Amino acid sequence: GPSLRALAARAGVRIGTAVDMTALADDRAYRRTTIRDYNSVTAENVMKWESVEPERGVHNWKPADDLVRFARAHGQVVRGHTLVWHSQLPAWLTSGVDDGSIGRTELRKILRDHITAEVKRYKGKIQQWDVVNEVFEEDGSLRNSIWLRELGPSYIADAFRWAHAADPKAKLFLNDYNVEGVNAKSTAYYELAKRLRAEGVPVQGFGIQGHLAIQYGFPGQVAENLARFGALGMQTAFTEVDVRMILPVDETKQATQASYYRRLLDACLGARSCKSFTVWGFTDKYSWVPGVFEGEGSATPMDETYGRKPAYEALREGL
Ligand code: XIL
Repeated sequence: GPSLRALAARAGVRIGTAVDMTALADDRAYRRTTIRDYNSVTAENVMKWESVEPERGVHNWKPADDLVRFARAHGQVVRGHTLVWHSQLPAWLTSGVDDGSIGRTELRKILRDHITAEVKRYKGKIQQWDVVNEVFEEDGSLRNSIWLRELGPSYIADAFRWAHAADPKAKLFLNDYNVEGVNAKSTAYYELAKRLRAEGVPVQGFGIQGHLAIQYGFPGQVAENLARFGALGMQTAFTEVDVRMILPVDETKQATQASYYRRLLDACLGARSCKSFTVWGFTDKYSWVPGVFEGEGSATPMDETYGRKPAYEALREGL
């Protein structure tokens, strides 16, 4: 039958995946599936700060360049992930702030230079950038990160302005998890986006990661949430969808998982603002879930040998 990507093209939506660059280089089945089923790619790790600048002033662009070239060769767009985050920062930066050798003024310049260098390098080649990632806590307060502590809340508007100056055509996104439905955290994003846009700050998109777990149930009011961001004139996207479960796998859990994938996809297809649906890996062979959530797994649409799960069929049927 037709590939996910062919179906998505007809539906007028991008279907994406996170890409593990080691797997892409070493595993032919992984490469073939990436090409066949997806027309959007996101670097799972290689565009993060610790990867692109492991030592101060020493850049490692090769793996990110490779992904951008791969995407171009295969007619895929690229989601840039991510410019400002509290996690996966280079050790030289966090230790410099901790030991006081990097002060606030210098840190702000370091952040501006990082954003400018990375966005300029891929100017014209990135459809959507996750400019800031995971800046709110669950209760809707700003996350107590190195960025908030050292620079204050204005770092968010600054980051968008710097990114926009470096590539005016890229769509610039906020991005977080646990913001699928209407809740305190997604409402904090809604209020932030509304305020930033009123102030003329270039923020054009809201990225919903979509890391679900079947034991926690399906989030409420997903359609309403997408609609309110759409009403601000913003794009929305599902950016990191996976649906994990407590192992062992059984048929009931797989059916629930399939329905969760399908309901997120349906929410995207039902919202004019949503034109991009990305899974955080398509095979359990390389999924981040077992390494982070103890006793959980089987979160992607294909098993470890690229066998299609009900979740894969649910995406096909939904597209
Ligand atoms: C994860 C990757 O999948 C892992 O390989 C890495 O070790 C840690 O980061 N939210 C995000 C992603 O925005 O960047 C994270 O990716 C998963 C959670």
